[in-house]
Amino acid sequence: MSNLKITTLNASAFPEFDNHKKVLRIEDTASGLLAFISIHNTNRGPAIGGTRYWHYEKEEDALKDSLRLSRAMTYKCSIAEVPFGGAKGVILASKENVGNKDVILIAYAKALAELGEPFYTGEDVGLNEHDVQVLEKNSNTIVGRPEIGGLPARWAALSVFYAMEGALAMKTGSSSFRGKKIAIKGLGGVGIDLCALLEKAGAILVGADIVSERVERALKNHPTIEIVDSALIHTIASDIYSPCAMGNEFNADTVPELKTKIICGAANNQLATKADGQRLLERGILYIPDYVANAGGLISVADELHPLGYSKERVELNIKRIRNTVEKIIETSIRDSIPTGEVADALAEERFQTIYE
Ligand code: NAI
Repeated sequence: MSNLKITTLNASAFPEFDNHKKVLRIEDTASGLLAFISIHNTNRGPAIGGTRYWHYEKEEDALKDSLRLSRAMTYKCSIAEVPFGGAKGVILASKENVGNKDVILIAYAKALAELGEPFYTGEDVGLNEHDVQVLEKNSNTIVGRPEIGGLPARWAALSVFYAMEGALAMKTGSSSFRGKKIAIKGLGGVGIDLCALLEKAGAILVGADIVSERVERALKNHPTIEIVDSALIHTIASDIYSPCAMGNEFNADTVPELKTKIICGAANNQLATKADGQRLLERGILYIPDYVANAGGLISVADELHPLGYSKERVELNIKRIRNTVEKIIETSIRDSIPTGEVADALAEERFQTIYE
């Protein structure tokens, strides 16, 4: 028996609040579900964004995460030119991950029909393929379905690849990877696919991961890859450094240690603060904003909702266009001496602040 309660919150007191369209607290005591869904901006189209299943010390932390992540999704949708707006779901997991996850996910999936507007969602941190299938059976707004577009990591790797091409062209005058040294931190879903694309294009690979199985898999698939210490990979001399592990990588301590020309990777929130974008600019290191480079996953997932049905060819074409966006961002950054991250934000804002009829 469901005991669903959906409450609209006024979250304007939180610094993470950015004129969000709708913030909801969702509770179902029967299943143990407690979640937040934040819908940031739907000017460009219906809300889309993953659902995170995570343990938070405080309920407020989960709410803040949903606010921050939904805002980021609006920027990503806008820059990738997908006709959707940013949203994010966050389900609060218990500390020991006790409770029946399937029951909680079923309650969450059913609640999605009660939001008053569509929220297209799917896998994020803490959800796996099985979980997505559970959601899919109980809601018609689940995307990232394995049987359609496949796992988004592969498409995120492709968008990073094209973003790198644009960066190389602008920085060196040639988009060729041949003989270029690319250092990849994190050899997981995105990192390993990126290795394959870069190896095929003639790059020299350097990699690092804290999990030995991931390193072994990389060595098996790419015997020439040089494996280095995860804590030091950002300090080695390279043409491109590609963070594909976790965020918050660049700060006042790490930026001076870098010996690369370009940063271009999939990890979200790579800059610890806005000031780090300025630090990179001053050091002459070309930073490709994370949400621009990693938008391929979103492009594929959103294509599942295309009126004509999913098209792999269209997805590939749209991902390829990221190279042009990257070049445009770099041009403006050079012209106006503004960090690339700020240029990308301004471009995204210009697009989503216009209401499309
Ligand atoms: P994943 O979990 O499959 O791989 C991440 C890898 O990084 C793991 O192998 C992990 O062991 C490694 N790692 C973690 N901390 C590390 C450290 N300190 N040093 C070296 N390696 C470390 O994740 P996935 O899917 O490959 O994503 C990579 C990044 O890209 C994440 O930040 C993710 O949020 C982001 N991203 C992923 C997308 C996707 O579709 N999978 C789309 C957009 C962004």
